[in-house]
Amino acid sequence: NIDFTGMMRNQQNPKGLSKEDLADLQNLLQQAQTSLNTRWQAGELDFSKLLPAMKDQVSEIVDYADNVAGRFENFVVLGIGGSALGPLAVHQALTHYYYNELPSEKRGNRPRFYVLDNIDPHRVHELLEMLDPDKTLFNVISKSGNTSETMAQFLVVRDMLRRRCPDTYAEHIVVTTDKAKGNLLPIAEKEGFRRFVIPQGIGGRFSELTPVGLLAAAICSIDIEQLLEGALSMDRWVRETQGVFSNPAQLRAALAYLSWQKGKNISVFMPYADGLKTMADWYAQLWAESLGKSYDRQGRVINVGQTPVKALGVTDQHSQVQLYVEGPDDKVITFVTVEKFRESQAIPSDPELPADIQFLGGRTLEELLSAEQKATEYALTLAQRLHQKIVLPRLNAHAIGQLLLLLEWETAYMGELFNINAYDQPGVEEGKNGTYALMGRKGYEGRKQEIEEYAKI
Ligand code: PA5
Repeated sequence: NIDFTGMMRNQQNPKGLSKEDLADLQNLLQQAQTSLNTRWQAGELDFSKLLPAMKDQVSEIVDYADNVAGRFENFVVLGIGGSALGPLAVHQALTHYYYNELPSEKRGNRPRFYVLDNIDPHRVHELLEMLDPDKTLFNVISKSGNTSETMAQFLVVRDMLRRRCPDTYAEHIVVTTDKAKGNLLPIAEKEGFRRFVIPQGIGGRFSELTPVGLLAAAICSIDIEQLLEGALSMDRWVRETQGVFSNPAQLRAALAYLSWQKGKNISVFMPYADGLKTMADWYAQLWAESLGKSYDRQGRVINVGQTPVKALGVTDQHSQVQLYVEGPDDKVITFVTVEKFRESQAIPSDPELPADIQFLGGRTLEELLSAEQKATEYALTLAQRLHQKIVLPRLNAHAIGQLLLLLEWETAYMGELFNINAYDQPGVEEGKNGTYALMGRKGYEGRKQEIEEYAKI
């Protein structure tokens, strides 16, 4: 359910959008839909088109996961950006919040789960120091098979495994990469690592529902069939429905676009569920990397994008919300709420307590969370700030699959409204190339010299 009352013009917020504003965008949205259909046919939107093919891979992934899960005590993802944030977000949303701290039987005897998405030597060293290599499976995820951070982690881990488990080291590495390109592939082939394929037409940040995320989820017993079912149901809804008030991705993109036109350059994603905290990281990457672009499709300089900000309710009510209510009016806020939590927690009553605390007794933490969210919504409305809400019925695999596809499609629509290519990331590639140059990769000598000249200034 998407509640967009807080985006609309009303008595309390005369600065909101009008139904006419949304209806006026209908032509542009129709053009966007036609263009997306063409791209879908051409294989540019394989995050949607290949969902049925991903469903066909479920049993292979689950079989592999079931086979290895009993053998290893730890499962570590080595990856960065789109190759790490999806696995993290889905794991946090769908498993016990303290999954790794649980005794093994409470984890269904599945491995502990770690995602190493940085190269901080402190963190890498301390993680490897803590894990028994004999009992650890490493999943190296890189679509390009070239990214320096992931390749460096891989080399560190491979070296450790070769020293510590010389006879079996190849069984401790599973590689998820492109089926034909990149440097990881030939190493995996030569050294006999088990491989899973990231389909070519799916970019990193759109790849959670490929083996990138499905394997990590299946290892921890997440129902990946339901995850894909949810995704497919949202996909059908978005692709088969026309009109801003019926198509949820069109609606969300239209609201984002109109608010951006009104100077809302910041998009805050604020779930009121700790399980969705890293979903905010995943969304931030998707929104920032897809839509922050210099040029439109005709090569004209446009410098568009909306800066994503991650927040968590209720925690950030006690930090960021002050700014949202009274600071610059340049933000649009998306709350994400959950109607029914997996657990309920009553707040005990005690008649002996002062009345100003007693009112909490007999209520539940869910009620308090919901009251806090509604109160924030109201405070924003009074301050004439734009906000909307995505309501998930529950935090389960089906709903998370739906949410992922909704946000991916919304990003695709927003890319069309901006008239940009939402699927490349030249700014990120620039940084990757600079790193290759500075680290001495062959073929990047000219760039190295350029950067060193610049550093002297
Ligand atoms: O969305 C993207 O394309 C990026 O964030 C990539 O996922 C990230 O740079 C990692 O790339 P790779 O998976 O090729 O190692």
